[in-house]
Amino acid sequence: MTSKLTTNLNNAATKLGRDLKFEHFDLGLGQLVLDDFQSMKISGYQYFNHFGNPEDATPKLVQYFESLGNDSALSEKLTIHVTTLCQDALKALNKEAAWITLRSSQNTNSHDIPRWHIDGTFWQNDPDKQRKVAIGLKGPKTLFNDLSNDNAKIDELCEELMQANDTFCPQFRKKIARLFDDARTSSAAQGQGTIFNVGAKYHAAPHSEPPIHEDRLFLSIVPGTVQQIQELRLEWNM
Ligand SMILES: [Fe+2]
Repeated sequence: MTSKLTTNLNNAATKLGRDLKFEHFDLGLGQLVLDDFQSMKISGYQYFNHFGNPEDATPKLVQYFESLGNDSALSEKLTIHVTTLCQDALKALNKEAAWITLRSSQNTNSHDIPRWHIDGTFWQNDPDKQRKVAIGLKGPKTLFNDLSNDNAKIDELCEELMQANDTFCPQFRKKIARLFDDARTSSAAQGQGTIFNVGAKYHAAPHSEPPIHEDRLFLSIVPGTVQQIQELRLEWNM
C-alpha cells in the first residue's frame, strides 16, 4: 500500500524545476506519531549519520534516541517512525538508499541571523536533478526562499558565498540578508516536510536554519542509488 507521505512527496517532487526550487508537502503522519516526537527529550546538540538503506540504521537509531534521554520503549517507537518515513520518502523518489542525518538542538542564539546558502552537488552527474528532503520532526522548520528566481540576485549570493572566509560569522550573514525578502521566506508547517533542489546554481534553493529557541529535531534525507550513497560515504571518509 502506498502511504500518504509517498503520494504527497512524489507529487511535490514532480513539480520541482528551475522555476519551483522547493515545495512543502504534508507528511501524512497520524497524531500519535506527531505526539511521540513532541514528547521526546532532547539533550543538547547531537548528530546522527547513516549511509545506505534506512532499515540498516535501526540499532544505531535506537541508541541515538536513548542518548538524547529517552527510554528504550519511546526510542524504539521513534526509530520505527524515522525508518518508515525514510523508506516512504525513498519510495516516492524511486531511490534505494540515502544519506540520512538527524540533528538535535536546544535553545540557542546561533541562528537568529539566518545562514542563507545553497547546497552544492553531491555527485558530478546531473547537477540540475539533485534534491534533498528536510523535515523538522520537532521544533522550528528550515527557512526557504527562492530569491524570486532573480538570476542576478542568485549570482550575487553565489559570488558572496564563494568569496567569504567564514559563511557562519554574523557580519557575513547580515551582509547577504539584503538579498532576501521576508515576504518570500517560508517554512513547512507542523506535520509538513520540504523537498528542495540542491546542486547547480540556478537550480538550487537558498535555505537556512531557522531561529532555534526551543528543542528541535531535524531530519535530512539525500536520496540516491546504493552506489551513489556509498560514493559519498567513501568521499567523506565516514
Ligand atoms: Fe544546507
